[in-house]
Amino acid sequence: MSELVIEKVWKEYGDQIVLEDVSLTVASRAFVALVGPSGCGKTTFLRMLLGQERPTRGAILLDGEPLPLEPGSDRGVVFQRYSVFPHLTVLGNVLLGREFSAARYKAKLFGAARRRAVDEARRLIGEVGLSGAEDKYPAQLSGGMQQRLALAQALIMKPKVLLLDEPFGALDPGIRAEIHTLMKRLWHETQMTVVMVTHDMREAFTLATRVVALERRRDRPEGKERYGATITKDISIWPPRLAGTPSIFSPDRDGPVASLGHCRDDLASSGEIQP
Ligand SMILES: Nc1ncnc2c1ncn2[C@@H]1O[C@H](COP(=O)(O)OP(=O)(O)OP(=O)(O)O)[C@@H](O)[C@H]1O
Ligand SMILES: [Mg+2]
Repeated sequence: MSELVIEKVWKEYGDQIVLEDVSLTVASRAFVALVGPSGCGKTTFLRMLLGQERPTRGAILLDGEPLPLEPGSDRGVVFQRYSVFPHLTVLGNVLLGREFSAARYKAKLFGAARRRAVDEARRLIGEVGLSGAEDKYPAQLSGGMQQRLALAQALIMKPKVLLLDEPFGALDPGIRAEIHTLMKRLWHETQMTVVMVTHDMREAFTLATRVVALERRRDRPEGKERYGATITKDISIWPPRLAGTPSIFSPDRDGPVASLGHCRDDLASSGEIQP
């Protein structure tokens, strides 16, 4: 289970209202794409889900419990850039979360526990297509490889919720398409709920089961600070993935994904989105 409930959330910085009255229930194992104009509060929203920011008003619940006051291993995150540590190797970056959770102050694992963690890290590095790069440093990797590494780093903690803030925004189109395929596979093979911010409608409709738009309803320049953004569109993509569907290497795993393109065309022709 990994259901997120956002209840009447407001976020203000001083006199500026960034988000107002945002309510959203994200089903366990859903993949939500969050879209909206620059500056409308998408990253702020994600940071609240991560626990880096508190709502000014309202509540956020994960599986019925209020979110802990700080980021935890139940929530993983990948940003557009700089998610990985430049002074650690690929293997070191993937191991880091495990080491911190095992030994909070020393951040080191020993003996059999370390061997198990290294095996798992190597397996994940393979899963994201980075086998052979275990001893390289991030500066020696391409942008796409760094984002694959960031995914592996987040996934080793088996987060209930994966938060992605334009993770593929800086990548070339070809590399993006490859990493989309990887992302779809990882999501199908795990139990995670994913919330992904993106500027790219095509990406939103390719990956997500639901597309949510944040916008200011009243966008007069004089009201910019006085009105926050809220949810203005909420589009379910058919067919949604069912919670509990057997997923690992399931033969029909591309079935729902394959039909998304068709769904996108329908929405475009109904005027819901720009094709
Ligand atoms: N820590 C902060 N202190 C004060 N204001 C902030 C803080 N974080 C964000 N803001 C303000 O909140 C608003 C929303 O910012 P946010 O980064 O969430 O937008 P965004 O939708 O992610 O934009 P983009 O698409 O450009 O990434 C901006 O006006 C920003 O200046
Ligand atoms: Mg942002």
